[in-house]
Amino acid sequence: MNDMCSVAPVITIDGPGGSGKGTIAQMLASALGWNLLDSGALYRLTALAARNHGVDMENPEALGVLAQHLDVQFLALESGDTKVVLEGEEVTNEIRTEEIGLMASRVATLPAVRDGLFKRQQAFKDTPGLVADGRDMGTVVFVEAGLKVYLTASAQERAERRYKQLQAKGMDVKLAQLLEAIEARDWQDMNRAIAPLKPAEGALEIDSTAMSIDDVFNTIMAEAKKRQMISS
Ligand code: DC
Repeated sequence: MNDMCSVAPVITIDGPGGSGKGTIAQMLASALGWNLLDSGALYRLTALAARNHGVDMENPEALGVLAQHLDVQFLALESGDTKVVLEGEEVTNEIRTEEIGLMASRVATLPAVRDGLFKRQQAFKDTPGLVADGRDMGTVVFVEAGLKVYLTASAQERAERRYKQLQAKGMDVKLAQLLEAIEARDWQDMNRAIAPLKPAEGALEIDSTAMSIDDVFNTIMAEAKKRQMISS
């Protein structure tokens, strides 16, 4: 990490799947003109690469090597969305399925995979600042972050949100199955031995079940201003 990187302010947004972290992180990064790290995408890409290359899910070493050497590009589109490219092929939608989400959650339990992705995640920290979204951004990867947010919502609400999101993308999904997958993933993410999902010390905890996206965004912006991370 160079000196430029070390002065870049960081806002971390951790929380369970479907809590709105991705949307909020994207809104914050674009409003502030900061860099964006979608760390979940890296775990999803590791899972997809493992499937594509027929790497055994029971082989931690091979999965660790795969994570470390992922050939991936995140391309910012004018619409504000990000195009994700793995080994030269666009996989933006492919990594968003619940199947890949569950596989990602499984590979994420492996220390070799977490170590393999650690430096790559830290490299996103650069001026003028970084918004990092994931499960352990505030507890492990950016412990020095000036603002750590823990964003959650009830499992039912998260399942309904994801249902609408996937339906809008034209994917064929069932609400009950989504709820089941979300609960299974929560359990796996919160109960793993390494870097389990939990609020970081001093985190601003936001339950977004009954909040609009704009309310969540405004709450975080107000806190960042209060902490003088951004100007009013
Ligand atoms: O945020 P997401 O749903 O795209 O993440 C997919 C999985 O990746 C999640 O269930 C657990 C894992 N993950 C993780 O272990 N640590 C992170 N910082 C981000 C995601």
